[in-house]
Amino acid sequence: MLIRNAGPADTPAILAIYNHAVKHTTAVWNATPATLADREAWLADKARRGFPVLVAEKDGAVRGYATYGEFRAFSGYAKTAEHSVYVDPASHRQGIGKALLEALVAHAGRAGLHVLVAGIDASNTGSIALHEALGFVVAGRLNEVGRKFDRWLDLLFLQKILEPPLS
Ligand SMILES: CC(C)(COP(=O)(O)OP(=O)(O)OC[C@H]1O[C@@H](n2cnc3c(N)ncnc32)[C@H](O)[C@@H]1OP(=O)(O)O)[C@@H](O)C(=O)NCCC(=O)NCCS
Repeated sequence: MLIRNAGPADTPAILAIYNHAVKHTTAVWNATPATLADREAWLADKARRGFPVLVAEKDGAVRGYATYGEFRAFSGYAKTAEHSVYVDPASHRQGIGKALLEALVAHAGRAGLHVLVAGIDASNTGSIALHEALGFVVAGRLNEVGRKFDRWLDLLFLQKILEPPLS
């Protein structure tokens, strides 16, 4: 498996993985599928702002991706980022999410970030287990702040303070 930076040619695969999560899961609290143009603009915006989009390539195909971006807009939050990781459902439990998240954590450390935050649907036991396996800890829970598929959703925050900590 190869973890590398995403390029424009990867946007159809990223789009397919993202839209599957939109249509079929509560991993993302959005009910509107993206278009290819949306994802191209998203990728360009990430690049412009210096945020990574990493893809996992296996047997010549993109199986997953991970990214981080601004946590909150005020300057005091500049050393914190919020991230996400998505793996093609046909490729779950093959270590791809773990490899992507490890690479993202390493990238964040090199970039001088201090904290990574994941906002995870509290029923998403797979993602919670993945994050805890990589040293993320639960930092808070907001009950019923989301709604999808006609039910309320709870948001669990997990965080990891990156090493070495910045003073
Ligand atoms: C969460 C997700 C990224 C995990 O990706 P993955 O490639 O399947 O995970 P990995 O194979 O790397 O798993 C690494 C470890 O995480 C844990 N884990 C991952 N998925 C799990 C699951 N469904 N149930 C329990 N533990 C799980 C396990 O500890 C696993 O190690 P193991 O397989 O040796 O037991 C993937 O399920 C996914 O893309 N889900 C939909 C999108 C999503 O929820 N993204 C996260 C939003 S914050």
